[in-house]
Amino acid sequence: MTGKLKAPKGTHDLFPSDSEKFAAVEATARRVFGAHGYGEIRTPTFESTELFARSVGETTDIVHKEMYTFPDRKGRSLTLRPENTAGVVRALVEKGIQDIPKPIRLWYAGSQFRYEQPQAGRYREFRQIGVELLGVASAAGDAEVLAMLFAFLGALGLTDVAATINCIPRGDARAAFSKALQEHVRPHADRLGADDRKRLDENPLRLFDSKDPETRRFLEGAPATLEFLDAASRAHHEELKNLLGKLGVRFTESAGIVRGIDYYTLTVFEVTSDRLGAQNAILGGGRYDDLVAELGGPPTPAVGFAIGEDRLVDAMTADVREPRTLFAVIPDGPEDFPYALGVAQEIRALLPEVIVESDLLGRGVGKGLSRAGQLAREPGRHAHRIARVQAVLLGSQEREKESVTLKDLTTGAQDTFPRRQLAERLAGRER
Ligand code: HAM
Repeated sequence: MTGKLKAPKGTHDLFPSDSEKFAAVEATARRVFGAHGYGEIRTPTFESTELFARSVGETTDIVHKEMYTFPDRKGRSLTLRPENTAGVVRALVEKGIQDIPKPIRLWYAGSQFRYEQPQAGRYREFRQIGVELLGVASAAGDAEVLAMLFAFLGALGLTDVAATINCIPRGDARAAFSKALQEHVRPHADRLGADDRKRLDENPLRLFDSKDPETRRFLEGAPATLEFLDAASRAHHEELKNLLGKLGVRFTESAGIVRGIDYYTLTVFEVTSDRLGAQNAILGGGRYDDLVAELGGPPTPAVGFAIGEDRLVDAMTADVREPRTLFAVIPDGPEDFPYALGVAQEIRALLPEVIVESDLLGRGVGKGLSRAGQLAREPGRHAHRIARVQAVLLGSQEREKESVTLKDLTTGAQDTFPRRQLAERLAGRER
């Protein structure tokens, strides 16, 4: 049996024209986050299943129905990471977080896995770019992370977005909020589906994640998070709003944001984009002051976010790839290949920023030139962002005379000169 092989449902291949965009976004992340003192962390793609149950939470959709969980050959239960915060905290606790100087500033980029119903912008393997700041309890930490996030979005040309923020009560206040929520929904308990009834009993905050329209209706007029904050939490929230205003971070407040993960305490936030369809959340994040202790470390406050990189790239209109000049080196026939490969090597050495591509099909200068001309007219066909195309024509004449014919396909100007003059002739053609 030979069936047609296909990528698994919910995954997608990134060919060069896409992956170059992802790489440019990741390079921008490295530059912007690096400028704030954040260093990259890479944690394993799979972790023990228990890690996610204990951090993301048993009653969340992620743990309850979206994880790729499997036993390894020794019967250990492993899970492909559905998110990266738990892995980062596990890594820090394992390394000895108490001995690492604070604040700890980390960022990451990588694949995450959730068994969700695929649709535009929602995949089973997707990529996240995330940031975690550990060791800062004050609202200045939340503000740094949010301001850095907007510096990053701004560098990608996404200037028309705003954050929606909320504050989730913690400790006794959270218990009081959960109880009030239970009392509000309890009269409708027999109309709830099995999952939502379990949420009502075990973790009423998770009712806000329900996609059941009836449950959503029962939540209308439900108690609001902000009304349950204790004095210290309220002060934290006010301080954050004040700082965001001073730093020029655009935000609105909404009691409806509770986020679908259990580890959040106090600040939570999301950013959505009108340029995306139903799956319009570009990113989400918040504070998780109890997670390090819950995973066996010393109490350590923390705050962070993760951006859905696939959605981010979809929402971007600016091209963040560096514009580059393409030198199309065109040998006339196979007998010119050695000369052409040598000239190509020399141009790369002289102009490290440019792309030098040799046409190695031996199809003649005419055909090679017409393919180069097509790229000059439609640069979008190339994986890289092509600013201009220069053809380097190398036939028997050039080979015998050790010369080079250079044709600028943008202006049409053509010139033949000795190869030893390459350096001076190419000077200034970098861009
Ligand atoms: P999250 O809200 O579960 O948070 O995911 C963050 C972002 O990942 C979402 O806003 C969305 O853009 C993207 N995303 C989630 N699921 C999918 C999917 N199936 N397909 C495509 N994109 C998706 C977290 O993961 C937290 N770890 C964020 C965080 C970091 N909180 C504190 N630190």
